[in-house]
Amino acid sequence: MNEHLLEVHDLAKSFPGTRGRAPTPVLRGISLAVARGEFLAVVGPSGSGKSTLLYCMAGLEPPTTGTVALLGQPVGRLGRQAQARLRRNHVGFVFQTYNLIPSLTAWENVALPARLARRKISRRQIGQALETVGLGDRADHKPAMLSGGQQQRVAIARVLAVRPDIVFADEPTGALDTASGNQVLNLLREAATDGRSVVMVTHDLQAAARCDRVLVLRDGVIHRELLRPTADEVFDAVAHAETRVV
Ligand SMILES: Nc1ncnc2c1ncn2[C@@H]1O[C@H](COP(=O)(O)OP(=O)(O)OP(=O)(O)O)[C@@H](O)[C@H]1O
Ligand SMILES: [Mg+2]
Repeated sequence: MNEHLLEVHDLAKSFPGTRGRAPTPVLRGISLAVARGEFLAVVGPSGSGKSTLLYCMAGLEPPTTGTVALLGQPVGRLGRQAQARLRRNHVGFVFQTYNLIPSLTAWENVALPARLARRKISRRQIGQALETVGLGDRADHKPAMLSGGQQQRVAIARVLAVRPDIVFADEPTGALDTASGNQVLNLLREAATDGRSVVMVTHDLQAAARCDRVLVLRDGVIHRELLRPTADEVFDAVAHAETRVV
């Protein structure tokens, strides 16, 4: 069994320039590995490439150069169907913008990934997933009837219900109050055990300080790596990353 659930080697990503402009380099040579059971945070200034990195690592965006291996499989060398199967069966993604299906209830949204992966999920598991994020009584609500924080919690329940091997979460506590945020962090912490891992992008430095390791991104490169840091250490590293030398 591969010890690393995720391996990224020399990943670079540029987006094509608009109106004849040169391409914009967003990620510039990122290498990292995520061990089984690890809870990793990625922090850094807005626009430093955190979401782009998460998309590339989860196989949702192709890197411009470099490689990504998920569960030992080189994502770029798999065909589209094999990539989709790998994502469906092993990867969970909590989007910064939730991406719930508006026409489905909270319950149906949580049930969807298992249904797409043709995996059995019991009514009890769905109910429990909603209970654990404190939304047991909102199961029949559609996203438009839920607050931003409640939608965010449904998005988290939807991912955690199927127990993916690796969860990518983009600002999973961004819309939550301290109590709900802590609840979600506890769930993510639990999801990073038994050989499963979590990679979380966050602006919340207290949240980052609950992770095993924190990567500080700056201008598309890993600027610092901190092992089990305190919130103050994360704060100092991010403050340094935000200071631009002109
Ligand atoms: N599809 C795209 N086309 C062109 N440029 C893009 C695209 N997606 C992202 N970018 C650019 O890449 C840079 C990094 O964006 P990204 O969303 O990864 O940042 P981020 O670190 O997640 O920021 P935030 O903390 O604000 O969410 C930004 O300058 C953004 O404009
Ligand atoms: Mg982002």
